Amino acid sequence: MHFLFNQSIKPVDLAGVNPNMTVLQWLRQNNHNGSKEGCAAGDCGACTAVVGELISTGSKVFIEYKSINTCIALVLNLVGKHLITVEGLAEGDKLHPVQQAMVQANGSQCGFCTPGFVMSLFALYHNESSIDLDKINESLSGNLCRCTGYKPIINAAFLIFAKKSQCHEDFYIKNNAKLISSLQEINEIENKPYCYTDKNKKIYYNSPIGIDQLASIFQKHPDAKLIAGGSDLGLDITQQLKEFENIINIQNVAEMKTIENNNEYIQIGAAVSYHSAWSVLVESFPELRSLLLRFASKPIRNWATIGGNIANASPIGDMPPVLIALNSLVKLRKGSNVRKVNLQDFFVGYRETALKEGEFIESILVPKLSSNERLWVHKISKRYEDDISAVCMAIKITTDDGVLIESRIAFGGMSDIPKRAKQLEKTIVSNWTHKDLVHKAYLALKEDFSPIDDVRATSEYRLQVSARLIEKTALNFSSIMVPNMAEIRHY
Ligand SMILES: Cc1cc2nc3c(=O)[nH]c(=O)nc-3n(C[C@H](O)[C@H](O)[C@H](O)COP(=O)(O)OP(=O)(O)OC[C@H]3O[C@@H](n4cnc5c(N)ncnc54)[C@H](O)[C@@H]3O)c2cc1C
Ligand code: FES
Ligand code: FES
Repeated sequence: MHFLFNQSIKPVDLAGVNPNMTVLQWLRQNNHNGSKEGCAAGDCGACTAVVGELISTGSKVFIEYKSINTCIALVLNLVGKHLITVEGLAEGDKLHPVQQAMVQANGSQCGFCTPGFVMSLFALYHNESSIDLDKINESLSGNLCRCTGYKPIINAAFLIFAKKSQCHEDFYIKNNAKLISSLQEINEIENKPYCYTDKNKKIYYNSPIGIDQLASIFQKHPDAKLIAGGSDLGLDITQQLKEFENIINIQNVAEMKTIENNNEYIQIGAAVSYHSAWSVLVESFPELRSLLLRFASKPIRNWATIGGNIANASPIGDMPPVLIALNSLVKLRKGSNVRKVNLQDFFVGYRETALKEGEFIESILVPKLSSNERLWVHKISKRYEDDISAVCMAIKITTDDGVLIESRIAFGGMSDIPKRAKQLEKTIVSNWTHKDLVHKAYLALKEDFSPIDDVRATSEYRLQVSARLIEKTALNFSSIMVPNMAEIRHY
């Protein structure tokens, strides 16, 4: 039950911790108070730290450093990994180049958000050899600051890279080989079932490394809670104050961390993070890039999975509409039985799925587009990044000789489940080039859905904006490019 912490090569033992404890709680209980608690919901970034994970590809072994929201990540999921917080950056009195740049650019005022910004910039420093404004914005997408107005922080990021070639190597670069061998050692001895015992209760935690092991444990304990990236489940713990009695971490199940990419489909293991699936998804579906960039924030995408997004069954999850429009399947497993279910039939009611007791999502099968098919994806939310959709629409069209002959459209935010708009699908085929397309789309949408009013949007807004998104897609289809206002940012 060990992980590496900051500049110590000696592993930290987690024996005795409650499996429901978050990384941030562990840090602050152990007097590592640099990481702050703002929202405890993954929204503000005050708690951001960096986690290093050992990656082996063929003969190459390296540590991948990714930012994480420590407030919603479980501390036991750090086992076998390397946690770096803001206290682990300076070497003695010598500030890390990232910290020096923040000082020089006046990137901190009240300082509450600063540790989180520093850690996001530290991840950027480790992962990029050169930067531009887009990369900086992406890396800071999970950090809020209400004092400096971001400009000095962005300037700090530019400063780091302007001076990177003259900077000393930081502790983690200098000690890379030692850290790799230390992580290899702790990885070899881990993955034993764990039971936390208090006076009145027992809490179980498992972290299987193979799919058969996972299937067998989950079949025996169907009441256990599976955790992948924890970006939904963590909120149950920190916002709803739930305590789970049995937790199974699926992040280390090797077979569920793979991606198969062939001419016909992409098969994505349910434990693959958005970060890892990004390039293969964007290569096959370039239109998805703008949605993925707006999916939560960088630290969430680093760990959150598509499997978790589907299993969570939120009516406003972003990937389900896309995957339904693409006619995707989910591979479900219970014990040794595997079945495939069309994703459109997976959601059976508000936050209810077709999963049976002890059954889990093994992978997602996404068919590729053929040469006469195209996909568009639109997300409407109040903020550019780190915001849940009011409406998410995915539309796949099929053409014959340039004429639209079929469409498959799915929505999030319009119903109690992610759902196809079957009336709209028929309507647009016969009215694609009609001057009254928007009105006809609106009427069809009213037949398909009765959306709710809530804090994100009114029912009427959802219907009207969706009809306009159809119009926008039709204009794009005719090569009339409508600027994506949500992507036009002001600094
Ligand atoms: C700040 C913030 C911003 C967010 N923004 C967005 C957004 O823009 N768009 C969006 O769609 N979502 C968003 N989310 C929600 C969340 O990030 C996604 O739903 C994410 O994909 C969940 O994946 P996960 O791996 O973290 O799931 P987890 O939290 O680990 O699991 C979620 C649920 O699925 C179950 N589960 C996980 N894996 C499996 C499996 N293989 N089989 C069966 N059950 C399983 C778990 O038991 C749990 O009930 C946001 C969340 C936060 C905290
Ligand atoms: S405390 Fe706000 S993201 Fe963690
Ligand atoms: S410096 Fe005060 S919130 Fe960022």
